[in-house]
Amino acid sequence: MLMLTITWLSMITMVALLPKKMLWPLSISMALIVSMFSITWFYQQNAQLSSNWLYTDGLSNPLLILTCWLYPLTLLASQSKMIKQPTPHQRVYMINLTILQIFTLLAFASSTLIMFFIMFEASLIPTVIIITNWGAQERRTQAGSYLLFYSMIASAPLITYLLFLYDNMHHLSLQMMTSSPQQTQFTALLWTTINLAFLVKMPMYGLHLWLPKAHVEAPIAGSMILAGTLLKLGGYGILRLANFLPMCLCSSKILYIIIAGILVPTMLCLRQTDLKSLIAMSSVSHMNVVILASIINTPTSTSAALMLMITHGLTSSALFCLTNTMYERTHTRTMALLRGSLLIFQLLALWWLLPLMFNMALPPSPNSIGEMLFMTSVLPLSHYTFIIISLGMITTAAYTLYIMLSTRDLPQNHLKTLPPIQIREHLLLALHALPLLLIIPNPELILP
Ligand SMILES: *[C@@H]1O[C@H](CO)[C@@H](O)[C@H](O)[C@H]1NC(C)=O
Repeated sequence: MLMLTITWLSMITMVALLPKKMLWPLSISMALIVSMFSITWFYQQNAQLSSNWLYTDGLSNPLLILTCWLYPLTLLASQSKMIKQPTPHQRVYMINLTILQIFTLLAFASSTLIMFFIMFEASLIPTVIIITNWGAQERRTQAGSYLLFYSMIASAPLITYLLFLYDNMHHLSLQMMTSSPQQTQFTALLWTTINLAFLVKMPMYGLHLWLPKAHVEAPIAGSMILAGTLLKLGGYGILRLANFLPMCLCSSKILYIIIAGILVPTMLCLRQTDLKSLIAMSSVSHMNVVILASIINTPTSTSAALMLMITHGLTSSALFCLTNTMYERTHTRTMALLRGSLLIFQLLALWWLLPLMFNMALPPSPNSIGEMLFMTSVLPLSHYTFIIISLGMITTAAYTLYIMLSTRDLPQNHLKTLPPIQIREHLLLALHALPLLLIIPNPELILP
């Protein structure tokens, strides 16, 4: 505990004090050390109460490790864009990123629900600052305020329910709650109202309007963290409360929306022109799968939800990095203008292929393990659901091909003179692919 505090605080002081010349290389290597340190710590802490403040178990450990892993990668990805800005801006940017990571880590590792809630909300502040201050286009203020107001309004019922719960039980400790599951089932309407904060964050289909905006406007590190860890805060919240707040699956119209949310975004992906908003849309579809899996709330579906969250965090973050790599060279994300770019960046085509195949859950990727677990837990629920979700998988394959084909055509003239891909970018993508490949032979690392 003390060790972790010291390492993360030293990261902030390092960033604030390092000389200008060495700022990026040293802080990235420092971030790598800090995150590896935290990863070993969390890994050894498996299913133990560590202190009064922190509680980690099989559900939060993989998410904590994912958050730590992505932290140096976000710095690595934003280097080329930020290095052109004045040095104080760079420092403030890195400190804000670090604080965002600390809030996320504390949210995943907190021992009481109320602390989880506070950290969940606190992580909004640096996110909005990063989007509105360092975003790419003029509409970033609008995107930031969408994100802020959607999340704040939706969290009002949750805090009310938590206070009510505290009144009844006189504690909100996670450890005591997981040992005493609730028997009565909640009606769908009540469940949705209480979980609204998480459903907006995930986002559930219909509440997702802030997500494509935020992704399109955010700088690359913002997109990576948003897709990689912040969306998972919502999933973690639902899974945490699932034991205590089971939903009655009997008469729930809300399920129709969620099932539509698996199929419809994949179809919308086929109509997108902007690469970044396409990836954001595909995240919506994947996250609705996670919501449905956590509502079903059997051991299999919980494992599926966790597996899908981890793999989606890595895959979509890799896809955003790839989009950014193209964007930095061509200054466009419009797919019609990117036509043929992969014939120029031959090696990049391989890097595109891997996350795209993982994103569409091609066996033997870990994503496919998650999908299989999910499908087996859906089948007893209803046959129509099963069919609709299978259709969703087919359209997923379709938009994957759409991305591949639209970037492969004959190169256009404006793409002929572009700077080559740097080693930094290869390293970035390799570090995304490595954990995904490592999970394939050891899926039990993630299953709780
Ligand atoms: C985060 O960024 C904002 C805007 O530049 C800045 O005012 C603030 O001081 C930063 N936060 C920290 C802790 O440096």
